[in-house]
Amino acid sequence: MGAASSSQPVSPRASLRDRLPDFPWDRLEPYKATAAAHADGIVDLSVGTPVDPVPALVRQALTDAADSPGYPTVWGTAALRDALTGWAADRLGARGLEHTNVLPVVGSKELVAWLPTQLGLGAGDKVAYPRLAYPTYEVGARLAGAEPVVYDEPWELDPSGLKLLWLNSPSNPTGRVLGADELRRAVAWAREHDVLVVSDECYLELGWEADPVSVLHPDVCGGSHEGLVAVHSLSKRSNLAGYRSAFLVGDAAVLGDLLQIRKHGGMMIAAPVQAATVAALGDTAHVAEQRERYARRRAALRGAFEAAGFRIEHSEASLYLWATRDEPCWDTVGELAERGILVAPGDFYGAAGERFVRIAFTATDERVAAAVRRLAE
Ligand SMILES: Cc1ncc(COP(=O)(O)O)c(C=O)c1O
Repeated sequence: MGAASSSQPVSPRASLRDRLPDFPWDRLEPYKATAAAHADGIVDLSVGTPVDPVPALVRQALTDAADSPGYPTVWGTAALRDALTGWAADRLGARGLEHTNVLPVVGSKELVAWLPTQLGLGAGDKVAYPRLAYPTYEVGARLAGAEPVVYDEPWELDPSGLKLLWLNSPSNPTGRVLGADELRRAVAWAREHDVLVVSDECYLELGWEADPVSVLHPDVCGGSHEGLVAVHSLSKRSNLAGYRSAFLVGDAAVLGDLLQIRKHGGMMIAAPVQAATVAALGDTAHVAEQRERYARRRAALRGAFEAAGFRIEHSEASLYLWATRDEPCWDTVGELAERGILVAPGDFYGAAGERFVRIAFTATDERVAAAVRRLAE
């Protein structure tokens, strides 16, 4: 927790900063230094950050829109909204989408962190997310002053005070995919209890042994978007983490309110990035090409870690292998760091991950080959 230094006046109420946990990645820094000291350099498989080029057609669209002196709008250009509704219809199978059913956001992390606040949640409200999860769901609840609650199965939650239910399929960190049956059950339960479902689907295009389904697919939502919002991001699909482009699709009433709030807050995507997003969503060739790269790296790392005594659980989709050697995660992190390989400790994602590590396959072919060699030594 961020303690006030003794030279500063103590605030009568906890500051926003004090509501938040320590930034988890700071705890990995000493291990990063160890791994970086390896004679052949670090193989960083910790953060799932893209390393391959931004597709040429996306860079071209960004450059072509470089002369953008005026303010962009929060809702985005009509061309962007067309691209978002078109992509969601084609790729998610969502039906009946209008511009009112989409909203661009400045990368999905800011949305996850600030959504409970922008929904007006606060003391007495609960925000629920999976027991093993991307840490920003908890951060978002805490920033709003709401109560974070974890679940194993959403329909086992106590609905009293619950205002927001996060789903995340495919999951970070486990790579687990929720089937249409499970999604349907979660949606039915949430609708029965009047709880908003926000489904973080940013790895939807990265299924390996499963074909992820959106919460907006008619088989899940019954053809109505009521009470449902899906979160999508260009970061992983199109190597655009550096551009900050993501978007929401779903319930027009919820998105309409968010649009107004975000207009007051000035939360708009840069105009050249809007143009780049249109180009990226209009192309599937680069997505297929990137998937092939990841499939290759995933197979190489999976084989090497298994041969080195690891057991991989779930991991049927996303950019991660969820792996264990049945020992405390920081022991695994430390031992791999000695070999120059950096992975993320499972407890970053909840106490239930304390005997797992998360291995990202977002490293170059050359670095993946280096990890495979080292694991065989
Ligand atoms: C589950 C999940 N949601 C959201 C994000 C944020 O992605 P971005 O802000 O790049 O859209 C990530 C990033 O790793 C993630 O794993």
